[in-house]
Amino acid sequence: MNYQFAQRINTLEASPLRENAKKNMASSSAISFAYGFPPTEAFPMAVLKEISQKLYTEADPESFLQYGASEGYPRLRTLIKERLQQLSAIDNEEEVLVVSGSTQAMDLAVKVFCNEGDVVLCEEQTFSGAVNAIKGYGAIPVPVPMDLTAESMDLDALETILKTEPRVKMLYLIPTFQNPLGTSMPLDKRKAIYELACRYDILIFEDDPYGELLYEGDPIPKMKTMDLEGRIIYAGSFSKILAPSSRIGFMMAAGPAMEKLILAKQSADSHTNFYWQVVLAEYMDHYDFEGHVAQLTLMYQEKYTRMLNALQALPSDKLTYIKPTGGYFITCFLATTVDSERFYDYLDEAKVAVIPGNIMSVAGKGYELSFRLNFTKPTLAQIDEGITLIGDALDYALAPAYEGVI
Ligand SMILES: Cc1ncc(COP(=O)(O)O)c(C=O)c1O
Repeated sequence: MNYQFAQRINTLEASPLRENAKKNMASSSAISFAYGFPPTEAFPMAVLKEISQKLYTEADPESFLQYGASEGYPRLRTLIKERLQQLSAIDNEEEVLVVSGSTQAMDLAVKVFCNEGDVVLCEEQTFSGAVNAIKGYGAIPVPVPMDLTAESMDLDALETILKTEPRVKMLYLIPTFQNPLGTSMPLDKRKAIYELACRYDILIFEDDPYGELLYEGDPIPKMKTMDLEGRIIYAGSFSKILAPSSRIGFMMAAGPAMEKLILAKQSADSHTNFYWQVVLAEYMDHYDFEGHVAQLTLMYQEKYTRMLNALQALPSDKLTYIKPTGGYFITCFLATTVDSERFYDYLDEAKVAVIPGNIMSVAGKGYELSFRLNFTKPTLAQIDEGITLIGDALDYALAPAYEGVI
């Protein structure tokens, strides 16, 4: 059969993250700083086992094995809304749609709002899943340069694009503990970007899967708290605070947008895995879910501090990094004196996995000197060993002095 694929699928590439993951998982000795995975000990096995046992022995199978509502399990939707109010002061009349991971939130938003050729502005280095969702519907992801010192998109650059590009439909942002950069946009920048979005009448998609994992300082208000007119679609996830396999994410949007999102959800997969929705609601209703998140935060904070301390010991004329205040990642930058190819070759040999900057960028090139480190999955010992090996890779990769004829 000579398949004639639709154009939209030809623009997609296999997720470089997933491809890399397969390779590294096959290698047992690898120290992986690569993926945004929780460690095995983060999974609340005892509670999940107890809830599952109770469901299978005491509950009516109709209540957790039957088809469910596309909007999500009503009790879970209520609990998520209450949690958003309590933890993030997101207090509005908007409804919550339970989705299959926040990956699906972005997919549905693009499906509902973007025609082919529409532009979605993104932070220049960003989550590759979102870039693929944008491309998947024939929309165009356009990178906006970052002002890394300000931990924000460069507002002047953003405004210039908005002035000159009439096709912009949406702004995709990870304002808190950005992936891959680890930056958190300060409040004044959040307000300024919101104002620009209002002025140029575009939507904002606020992607916030890491937002609760704060290790230092005070939380910064979510952009969604500023939204009085349904301009922001807010997405969250339980992947990083419960289990990625639950595939439970959620999105909040104003009524007319929500109606269309639910339609899109129905045709995508009817509803999010109902069994997991019931398990999560049980967890939140009858066990100490917040205690679990607090415990996770402490566990990650220790790893975060360990990695920052280890990085601090590396020579700052060869490697710098952005110090995040929470989340899952630290992004490092090699000095221009470092030969990035030799650096990554050394890490490959030493079986230390990192995510090179190009993979997590809209353009796919030009970020050879940056790489992302995850600190939640490795053990403390692996963090020590892996960062020492990164130091060795720096030594190995120092570009030889120029010996040509001047
Ligand atoms: C910024 C960002 N958004 C969304 C996701 C997807 O999360 P989920 O497992 O909820 O689909 C990730 C996962 O790594 C992410 O980093």
